[in-house]
Amino acid sequence: MRQAGRYMAEYRALRQQHTLLDICRQPDLATEVTLQPVRRIAVDAAILFSDLLIPLAPLGLPFDFVGGEGPKLERPISSTDDIDRLRPFDPREDLAFVLTAIRQIQRELAGKVPLIGFAGAPFTLASYAIEGGHSNSFAKTKALMYGHPEAWHRLCSTLADLVGDYLVAQIDAGVDAVQVFDSWVGSLNAADYVEFAQPHSQRIFDIVGNRVPTIHFGTGTAMMLGEMARAGGHVVGADWRIGIDEAWDRIGHDRAVQGNLDPTSLLGPVPRMYRQVDDIVARVNGRPGHIFNLGHGILPSTPVEHVQMLASYVHQVTARPTPTV
Ligand code: CP3
Repeated sequence: MRQAGRYMAEYRALRQQHTLLDICRQPDLATEVTLQPVRRIAVDAAILFSDLLIPLAPLGLPFDFVGGEGPKLERPISSTDDIDRLRPFDPREDLAFVLTAIRQIQRELAGKVPLIGFAGAPFTLASYAIEGGHSNSFAKTKALMYGHPEAWHRLCSTLADLVGDYLVAQIDAGVDAVQVFDSWVGSLNAADYVEFAQPHSQRIFDIVGNRVPTIHFGTGTAMMLGEMARAGGHVVGADWRIGIDEAWDRIGHDRAVQGNLDPTSLLGPVPRMYRQVDDIVARVNGRPGHIFNLGHGILPSTPVEHVQMLASYVHQVTARPTPTV
């Protein structure tokens, strides 16, 4: 999930002075924002502050974040020729600022908690590249996917190679785990997932291999969790639309699972939030390999105290006596 952001006053204060892209591109600022939630909330890991879209600019798809509406690309992909014009790049050069931030964050964290790096999966990245921003229907994305399947696969294999290389560069710079976000892949049915998205996501996990633990995340994916697990990931994330026990059955018990509290339950009332946590913990039933998390990112209107209370409560209800053997 995204754990830094506008629900924190110190993040909003920094955003008064700097744009989101400035924060992503200046290692000192990215370091500061990565550490903000770690200082305030008893989280078990830090997540690199960056954005999913950062690799699109050097690829030839510049974008900006416009006033609270999310990302906007200057010239989204609108033809198969646009795909041929993309410029694969070396993340060690064109995204060196991310790698510098990682080294700096790891110095500051000094082993206190692990650092998770991340990148977008091909389907979700391609959807931004084609729609030019967020979409509800993914109409342009699917029109290209169904209408020009060879061009779609060319685009996604370019993205997969790039993202694989970028994640390896993040690992070389020092991240302890990586998460692949396929946030919008739940807009596909399972058969289309297998045909159009899975081989490219799988390519990323094949490139990364077993260098570090990998997390494979999506939302709206209840009916394709098994197929996502087959694409890869030591850990597979589930959102709140499915019970974590059922999600785990679909993912397979040879994998770890991450999830799956509804982010809106952090809005309150707090006793209800606690009941939702109890339900997840009961469904997990002590089986090792569960990473407690939200099913998606923290919403900007979330009271920070609720996030603090959530982290303490999860630690309290999942604490097990240290084995004596
Ligand atoms: O938790 C962290 O500290 C990491 C920060 C992080 C950001 N983006 C910063 C950000 C991460 C992990 C991302 C990934 C990302 N970016 C995803 C995948 C994760 C997910 O939530 O599904 C996606 C889909 C994006 C694309 C993106 N970036 C959108 C759709 C938006 C606008 C939505 C919004 O909340 O306004 C962004 C902007 C963005 N990226 C913010 C943050 C903290 C919003 C805050 C701001 O405008 O300052």
